[in-house]
Amino acid sequence: MIWALVPAAGSGRRFGGDVPKQYLHAAGKPLIGHALEALLAHPQMDGAVVALAADDPHWPGWTTLHGKPVVTCVGGLERADSVLAALYALPENVAHDALLLVHDAARPNVRGCDLSTLIAAANAQRDGAILAAPVRDTLKASDADHRIEATVPRAGLWRALTPQAFRRDLLQRALQAAQAAGVTVTDEAMAVERLGLHPVLVEGREDNLKVTTPADLALVEFLLARAA
Ligand code: C5P
Repeated sequence: MIWALVPAAGSGRRFGGDVPKQYLHAAGKPLIGHALEALLAHPQMDGAVVALAADDPHWPGWTTLHGKPVVTCVGGLERADSVLAALYALPENVAHDALLLVHDAARPNVRGCDLSTLIAAANAQRDGAILAAPVRDTLKASDADHRIEATVPRAGLWRALTPQAFRRDLLQRALQAAQAAGVTVTDEAMAVERLGLHPVLVEGREDNLKVTTPADLALVEFLLARAA
């Protein structure tokens, strides 16, 4: 059994505006609608839990998509709190070692082929797997005045994307440990790495973008309209 956990409790402050970025529309639908549809259209996915802000007025109230259950819960202060809340809200019949795919609500353009590759990789070994893209630009380290101090070799550097796939018991243990240590993790793999484990990087499509700025929104609008 494979379930998606979708943290969507963020306020999207970096984007600006009143509407959290996961509810901005592109190609006729909120970004979170595209993300959930892409996940649940995959034949191996069984359902999704979405972590929402308390009293979220924007949530469209979906309870099923593609005939599969969509469950909601209230998220937390940090992304990891929201993911843990979603994990706790899984239905009772989801096994302790079920595979969970954690996916950003504001990443609407994930493709089925990437989900298939990710699921196969995560099933093949115990530390989990994440979609990622190799760094293409030259990287610079700077001082506080934006003066270049060094060029960072980009070989072996990747951008972490989502979904990130882990067995339920491992993900729970990793996020609880980070929470207990007061460490803010910016993705799920980081919590698993803190346990001394080594999730696998699965090269995914570069156009699986997370919307953070108005320029990102324009780009995903174009990509989604082209795919429709
Ligand atoms: O802010 P960022 O782009 O890293 O957020 C990634 C995802 O995590 C978004 O879908 C956001 O709604 C979610 N999130 C959350 N709970 C928080 C903070 C972020 O569910 N407290």
